[in-house]
Amino acid sequence: MSMPTPATARAGAAALDVKRLRQDFPALKQEINGRPLAYLDNAATAQKPAAVIEAVARYYREDNSNVHRGVHTLSERATAAYEGARETMRGFVGAASTREIVFVRGTTEAINLVAQAWARPRLQPGDEILITHLEHHSNIVPWQMVCEQTGATLRVAPINACGEVRLDEFERLLGERTKLVAIGHVSNALGTINPVRQMIERAHAREVPVLVDGAQATPHMAVDVQALGADFYALSGHKMFGPTGIGVLYAREALLDAMPPWQGGGDMIKAVSFDGTVYNDLPYKFEAGTPNIGGAVGLGAAADYIAGVGQAQIAAYESDLLAYTEDRLAEVDGLRLIGTAANKAAVASFVIDGVHAHDLGTIVDHHGVAIRAGHHCAMPVMEFFGLAATARASLAFYNTREEIDALVEALREAKNIFG
Ligand code: ALA
Repeated sequence: MSMPTPATARAGAAALDVKRLRQDFPALKQEINGRPLAYLDNAATAQKPAAVIEAVARYYREDNSNVHRGVHTLSERATAAYEGARETMRGFVGAASTREIVFVRGTTEAINLVAQAWARPRLQPGDEILITHLEHHSNIVPWQMVCEQTGATLRVAPINACGEVRLDEFERLLGERTKLVAIGHVSNALGTINPVRQMIERAHAREVPVLVDGAQATPHMAVDVQALGADFYALSGHKMFGPTGIGVLYAREALLDAMPPWQGGGDMIKAVSFDGTVYNDLPYKFEAGTPNIGGAVGLGAAADYIAGVGQAQIAAYESDLLAYTEDRLAEVDGLRLIGTAANKAAVASFVIDGVHAHDLGTIVDHHGVAIRAGHHCAMPVMEFFGLAATARASLAFYNTREEIDALVEALREAKNIFG
């Protein structure tokens, strides 16, 4: 997906009433160390609007019960709320059917599910899984595990000095042996937006299915799994203003149908006897045990909230704010931006000569500014740039230029102390 042009970015920036929207987020209305909180760690987890907090609280206050089981009123209400959230998430990602929407703990569990239930039964020694050098650990380690289990090989498409996947190399590595491609939509460490549609087209030309890790995309842009052509798409609730412990695996129905269940237990069966078990229909075959009902309700509320704000407006506003952030960071003596892709979303990763990233994180916290310092669960990306860690400011639509100014002021102080 391409980012907005500067003109549309300005129009979008004007269209978003950030001051009013910030009032929806109780956690943003506090001081940290005597300064207004500037929360710039949204790639780690985003803050929650009152609409999400209230939806979860109301569920537990009024409707709490188990789903798909009881004939009593509360169970019917809980089931309606849970299945209503599934329909909301179907619309949110543009899936054809709720049979394709599996509730999981988050992106990590979604990818592990595909690794164990789709890849493991199919892969053989000599087969290959293709990922990129940009991936989060959750889109690396599950594939390493399944390669160990099956004798398959993990191949890695390299990146360039800007932090973009080298498409020529990606295409070269897509071969007869490739059985699955797994790529991030947006890099959590650098903010690079991968040309996933183009990459999917190239994989499909060789009849290779593609999993997209969308954890860092859904808070920032509209996603349409059918327009992208994704075979699997994983997302996490807590990155998109919803609760922790809930996410979605989207998968094309034909793929899910052909997969064995991943976990066994209640609700994923139609009938059980000691002679054998008949598994449930989609998507319940993949939802063993009592699910995170309150989490699903909160995730549905988060998707509705995002839709209410407007995904085009969010993308345009954040594009403008990211440009401002990168311009202001460039004013800090000795600061180097890590990740300068032409197409980026919401992330500014950087290092400052003579100051360790963790010291940066601690000092800016004294100014009320929350950023992340470390390897961002993407150690191969750090290794590529010859770094142990970066500091990372990651944005959401509720962030402001004033918060970026507070970050820059705090970084200047850090540079004066250590640099
Ligand atoms: N993946 C999360 C991050 O980028 C935790 O910070």
